[in-house]
Amino acid sequence: MRTLYCGQVNASHIDQQIELCGWVHRRRDHGGVIFIDLRDREGLVQVVCDPELPQVFGIAEQVRNEYVVRLKGRVRPRPAGSANPDIATGEIEILGLEMEVLNRSETPPFQLDEYEKASEEVRLRYRYIDLRRPEMLERIRMRAKVTRALRNFLDNNGFLDIETPMLTKATPEGARDYLVPSRTHPGKFFALPQSPQLFKQLLMMSGMDRYYQVVRCFRDEDLRADRQPEFTQLDIETSFMNEDELMTLMEEMIRQVVKSVLGRDLPNPFPRMAHAEAIQRYGSDRPDLRCPLELVDVGDLMQSVEFKVFSGAANDPQGRVAALRLPQGCELTRKQIDGYTQLVAIYGAKGLAYIKVSELAKGRDGLQSPILKFLPDEVVEAIVQRTAAEDGDLIFFGADKATVVNEALGALRIRLGEDRQLMGSDWQPLWVVDFPMFEWDQQANRWSALHHPFTAPKAEHQTLLTSAPGTCLSRAYDMVLNGMELGGGSIRIHRPELQEQVFRLLGIGEAEAQEKFGFLLSALKYGCPPHGGLAFGLDRLVMLMAGATSIREVMAFPKTQTAACLLTSAPSEVSLDQLRELSIRIRRPQAEERGDG
Ligand code: AMO
Ligand code: AMP
Repeated sequence: MRTLYCGQVNASHIDQQIELCGWVHRRRDHGGVIFIDLRDREGLVQVVCDPELPQVFGIAEQVRNEYVVRLKGRVRPRPAGSANPDIATGEIEILGLEMEVLNRSETPPFQLDEYEKASEEVRLRYRYIDLRRPEMLERIRMRAKVTRALRNFLDNNGFLDIETPMLTKATPEGARDYLVPSRTHPGKFFALPQSPQLFKQLLMMSGMDRYYQVVRCFRDEDLRADRQPEFTQLDIETSFMNEDELMTLMEEMIRQVVKSVLGRDLPNPFPRMAHAEAIQRYGSDRPDLRCPLELVDVGDLMQSVEFKVFSGAANDPQGRVAALRLPQGCELTRKQIDGYTQLVAIYGAKGLAYIKVSELAKGRDGLQSPILKFLPDEVVEAIVQRTAAEDGDLIFFGADKATVVNEALGALRIRLGEDRQLMGSDWQPLWVVDFPMFEWDQQANRWSALHHPFTAPKAEHQTLLTSAPGTCLSRAYDMVLNGMELGGGSIRIHRPELQEQVFRLLGIGEAEAQEKFGFLLSALKYGCPPHGGLAFGLDRLVMLMAGATSIREVMAFPKTQTAACLLTSAPSEVSLDQLRELSIRIRRPQAEERGDG
């Protein structure tokens, strides 16, 4: 139907007759002449419709935005002075010779260049229109480019692309499952995979050696800008590789992809940081290294100060007192400090103490702080020294349970970095390693796996599984880029006894282990190679590379914050017949409230 794309017409086509298909992006009636910007996937081109050519002109008078047309025309240079350097086709225009309306369009719910006026709800409901915007197209295109580059790398490195089931059994990755009722087995359910974790391990036991899959995963969890209920992983597993070899290969892949898609160089090698150090210095297990600010422990200085908030946390084995120095922070106004106090409150902090360091030479008189009166001279001196504070700086403090202080000051650190323009613009990837195997789940009163229950402990820590599980470190690793967890994985347990021991520690009894993971325990007994792998969040990787602020912007058809699809109105009710076939009866919430559900 066409000879080339609208966006590809250029000066080399001058005087040629061409045929284009596309959407009417804009139509301008200049009283006598009608200009149409015609748009397709590759860009825009200007079409001139002259009243002396009545066929084209007659149609040009009728068309409206988003009509789909087919056009025959002749390429010519734009008149002197009217070139548009902003678009690729800006030097030329097309004199329309013949036009056909392929389809009409109702007035769209928003004009493409006015999408910002439309709510995200409207944009998602009419996603097919939203996706016509060049920015969206560019992101979707970049996504395809990233996937292709990843596949190329893995194909070239001997990985096999293997599909795993979508209708399967629950794999514990820490979220709720999406369940699918079985018609043929009344009362039983499949789970959609939270990840292909167990299948990829089974593929190693099957001798596949190197596996990858660009795979959809499903997790029913609270959504945020970087989380969707249905998202894509680049999932990888290998046999006979240790964590060093794997991390080296994986960062090489990311370096190559970023280089080929964005032309940027990432560090070689990526720095590695122990989990404990990341928490201590940045309050986070996914530190954004672009921000130079760091948390500094001051608990030892606060053990016997008068200010109970500080001494209490300093003497609590689960507490932490930390300082965060902001260079030139004396410039902050009262109102700004109040704003930051509100920010840390979101993370449970009960306040945000600070000391303004105006002039060190003046001793105490050179400092301003609501808590100064509680702190003896030697403590104040030690704080100044430890934080390396200089004239004009401000030191913030957090004192509470360590988890609260870490989250609060970790978030404050990033906010200050952004507000005070301290963030380096570089890409700062790192590996976080040496994760604890377990964390204590207060509510459930038992250990839970920090990564997942198939992660191996460090060999030299295995005895700690019985003596001190809380101090046992695992062979897990996360790749972090600019404060976002891009991917994570581990070397797995490959011996049945160890797997059973870890299940027991997690409170998974023998019967439950058999019922849920019997197939894995059995497979471990028939010659399982040492193996390990990881999974990247593809949406997150593309989001970072596209400079987008939400993964919804790099997914063609994302869901809303409440996990609904506005375009298709899913989820939706189903017929009674369908339910009957599935042996399912709906309990209406009202009935439950009445107590007769
Ligand atoms: P994990 O649960 O860390 O590991 O997931 C791997 C990566 O997937 C991305 N991710 C998400 N992206 C968007 N929306 C979500 N809801 C979401 N949840 C996770 C993150 C994350 O780093 N089976 C293990 C991997 C392994 O051990 O090999 C796993 O799934 O970028
Ligand atoms: P108060 O004595 O409660 O008025 O607190 C004195 C100062 O300490 C105020 O600046 C509070 O914001 C701050 N503060 C209170 N609780 C904490 C806490 N848990 N961590 C850090 N600062 C706090």
